[in-house]
Amino acid sequence: MRAILLGAPGAGKGTHAVGISNHYDIPHISTGDLFRENVGNNTPLGQEAKTYMDKGELVPDELVIRLVEDRLSRPDVENGFLLDGFPRTIPQAEALWEMCEKNDMQLDAAIDLEAPYELIEKRIVGRRSCPECGKIYNIYFQPPKEEGICDVDGCKLVQRADDNEETVKTRFQVYQEETEPLIDYYKEKGILRSFDSTKPIEEVQEEVFEAFDK
Ligand code: AP5
Repeated sequence: MRAILLGAPGAGKGTHAVGISNHYDIPHISTGDLFRENVGNNTPLGQEAKTYMDKGELVPDELVIRLVEDRLSRPDVENGFLLDGFPRTIPQAEALWEMCEKNDMQLDAAIDLEAPYELIEKRIVGRRSCPECGKIYNIYFQPPKEEGICDVDGCKLVQRADDNEETVKTRFQVYQEETEPLIDYYKEKGILRSFDSTKPIEEVQEEVFEAFDK
């Protein structure tokens, strides 16, 4: 399966990406994670991306497209991939469509996770993650067994630099202006599938599997 995950910040893209990529045995490629890795390693790309990410703005298309093009040229995507957080603008969507055509690949699905702003704000402000294994928690909805500690490996959980109330507003506004138009874009391509992401995680996951297992 070759699919992309669409949805506002905090809609649940990263949460569901793990289960979907395991279920279909395809690599999970998150542009946000790739940028954060570069920020952590203080690479020139990371330094540039950080100036946008900290403000909740999008990294320029040209940088993101180059990053994804490079990632999709690796052999592990031969049997499919799950893109999380890309594309986020119409030019990025057009670039992805062209990349696929050039490589004789077809994009099978745009999985759109729907959730309203009020819920998203709480999900983002409450999000914590494990810096070691990447597991995502939420102090309100998915707390770890022991406060601040990863259930899997015992590491101290961290909060993302861009997960604060001020940045959430900008990120949501940017989503509405730049990314929401992709819903119509993929509807026209005939590959859009929308899911109610306000439901419990397991329920959303089951609905996604039901839709694509056939
Ligand atoms: P990125 O890392 O992609 O962040 P985002 O899109 O803002 O999305 P999030 O990671 O915040 O949310 P999510 O949908 O993954 O939610 P999650 O599953 O964690 O991008 C960060 C930045 O990088 C961007 O702002 C931009 O600057 C840059 N960037 C990245 N890609 C780019 C691109 N293509 N172009 C330009 N710039 C780019 O869930 C959130 C919380 O909710 C968690 O705590 C989770 O436990 C909880 N939760 C989720 N689902 C449920 C549920 N069903 N029930 C209860 N709790 C739930």
